[in-house]
Amino acid sequence: MTPASTPISAPAHVPANPAAPHLREDLLAPRFYTTEIDKAARTYLDLERPAFEAMLGEMEADYNRDHFDRQAPLARWQALSPGEKQAYESYLVRSCVSEFSGFLLFKELSRRLFQAQRQELGRLFQLMARDEARHAGFLNRALVAEGISIDLPSLSSKRPVIWFPLSWVLYSVYLSEKIGYWRYILIDRHLKAHPENAFAPLFDFFEPWCQDENRHGDIFNLLIRCWPQLKRGLRGRLLSRFFL
Ligand SMILES: [Fe+2]
Ligand SMILES: [Fe+2]
Repeated sequence: MTPASTPISAPAHVPANPAAPHLREDLLAPRFYTTEIDKAARTYLDLERPAFEAMLGEMEADYNRDHFDRQAPLARWQALSPGEKQAYESYLVRSCVSEFSGFLLFKELSRRLFQAQRQELGRLFQLMARDEARHAGFLNRALVAEGISIDLPSLSSKRPVIWFPLSWVLYSVYLSEKIGYWRYILIDRHLKAHPENAFAPLFDFFEPWCQDENRHGDIFNLLIRCWPQLKRGLRGRLLSRFFL
């Protein structure tokens, strides 16, 4: 997952791209991001070395390696009313684009961090990009089962890429990953309590999926701690209180 959306100017009723239904240009449309990658390459990991080693070890362990089965059928089990169908498809499109946006951001960070000889950091982002690519691919397969195809690479080249300072990316991706975690786990808990509402096999995959997002959130928490100035002063204290 990637940072929350930013306002743009197109009217809310105009689809962004006829090939990508449910992607209206409104406040909640997922976007693509980049940041100060040269600055990210100066991340002072030694401040958090034990936590970093632990997180890298968890990512290398790849607990969900076999979870996102490419052969698993994802077609809906139940018919939906037109309104429900619209809501489900909109959810799939937004989630898929937002997972793909995370993949692109992490992949670019990984590539540039390797170039900057930050092997360990580059590897960490490479592993997060691996997870987001799996998530986006899975959602894309659920969309194909709905008869919708989205050309993600061409979509990313058509939509504007938004630049954020590194600190904003650290804060907003941290929040976005934790929100992603809660979204997947709350849907999972709701459907376990109300199995009659589980109308698609996709939802069966959410419990381990949410753990990927939780790990990504923990990694961004760690990266924030590698920049002590982000926590200092009135601004730092207010931000810490906000996150708590
Ligand atoms: Fe994800
Ligand atoms: Fe994530």
